[in-house]
Amino acid sequence: MNALQIFLPCAAGVEGFLADEAHRATGLAGNDLLTGRGGVLLRASWRDALLLNLHSRLAQRVLVQLALRPYRSENDLYELASSVAWEIWFTPRQSFKVEVTAQHSPLKSLNFAALRVKDAVADRFRAKSGVRPDVNTQWPDVRIHLHLTTDEATVYIDTSGEPLFKRGWREDKGDAPLKETLAAAMIAASGWDPHGEDPVPLYDPCCGSGTVVIEAAQIACRIAPGLRRRFAFEKLLPYQAHVWNAIKNEATSAIQASPVSIFGSDVSHRMVDFAQRNAERAGVAQAVQLRGGDALQRMPPCDSPGLMLLNPPYGERIAAAGTAGQNASERATLRAQGAAQGRETAHTDDGGEFFSQLAAHWKKHYTGWSAWMLTPDLKLPGKMRLKESRRVPLWNGPIECRLFRFDLVRGSARARPQGSAAEPSDGGT
Ligand SMILES: C[S@@+](CC[C@H](N)C(=O)[O-])C[C@H]1O[C@@H](n2cnc3c(N)ncnc32)[C@H](O)[C@@H]1O
Repeated sequence: MNALQIFLPCAAGVEGFLADEAHRATGLAGNDLLTGRGGVLLRASWRDALLLNLHSRLAQRVLVQLALRPYRSENDLYELASSVAWEIWFTPRQSFKVEVTAQHSPLKSLNFAALRVKDAVADRFRAKSGVRPDVNTQWPDVRIHLHLTTDEATVYIDTSGEPLFKRGWREDKGDAPLKETLAAAMIAASGWDPHGEDPVPLYDPCCGSGTVVIEAAQIACRIAPGLRRRFAFEKLLPYQAHVWNAIKNEATSAIQASPVSIFGSDVSHRMVDFAQRNAERAGVAQAVQLRGGDALQRMPPCDSPGLMLLNPPYGERIAAAGTAGQNASERATLRAQGAAQGRETAHTDDGGEFFSQLAAHWKKHYTGWSAWMLTPDLKLPGKMRLKESRRVPLWNGPIECRLFRFDLVRGSARARPQGSAAEPSDGGT
């Protein structure tokens, strides 16, 4: 019976990919699976909630919607939360926490809104059983989510706990690791399918701590992203260990060797070590080949053309290193010397040189490959002097990015005239 309303929040731009993923995980379709803004709404079973926690790479969490009503004041929120039969979800011996998100809520204090919902939950338990559950803001057994819009309030119980991007394998972080959910969104948007008819190799030449290659390798090996972590639903009353164990056993028996090669490299050997250790914890050490090396010098890691997928260095904190980095630091030294002698020298530290050299290297040696690059820099195609064939809007937290696709054809068929600017409008998504 599909008795539950389940909401899967996700980053903007990812909704369509998440709907496809939820359909593959549960088989739900039509009115049982609706794509909305910022997430996907399902009419689904408790078992589906468990399946989605285990298999979703794109959802931020799996929420069960328990009440939805118009509201105008904090008292309306108290009434709304009082109407929920919390006693079928948890007991007063368990601690809980209320988290609030809001879009254009007219309420002055979201903290006070959370307090009213907390009171409603505790008062309902005390009226039913004489006991109030404790609040624990750090390590609650149960998380309740309140979402407020201008005039509607929705109350959810969270079946995930820690957000789903925490897969349980990352211990070694780089300076700017991608969230696993965003790496998975890049893979989905690129259309890379290791189980398709003609799968191509995947290569991240700026792999950092390995997020893209590890997500790709888990997809290729059919390793469910949630196999190595715990979930909040394990503490909720509907939880039955034998059902969950059967779901996990089924997922474990689906694991296979990767049908394609997956490569990663980074100029920083420290990062390559991190990526290697993360890959081991993620169970994909056999499926990925990781090496050190400057992207401006590395030759293709395999004979047949494939797909490159990367978020390249950007900005000062994660500036390009290697050959281009040396040039940049030499320029910086010269600038400093010039300034000391009262001379001004022109400089561009926007990665322009790195990207034009990268494009030249790729045009020469990576014919037939496609390169998908995630960046907040809308001028990237101009810096690469390449015309993108696709641009997909994606959000890295609050930062609006584009995933650009460049087809590296022989010669300059897709080359952009020197100095021309990026396309102002989005297309081809
Ligand atoms: C934005 S980070 C990538 C983060 C990565 N996706 C992750 O999840 O950890 C950019 C990476 O590019 C690497 N890098 C910088 N210059 C490079 C170069 N010339 N060749 C190869 N890698 C480079 C940095 O060491 C850094 O790890």
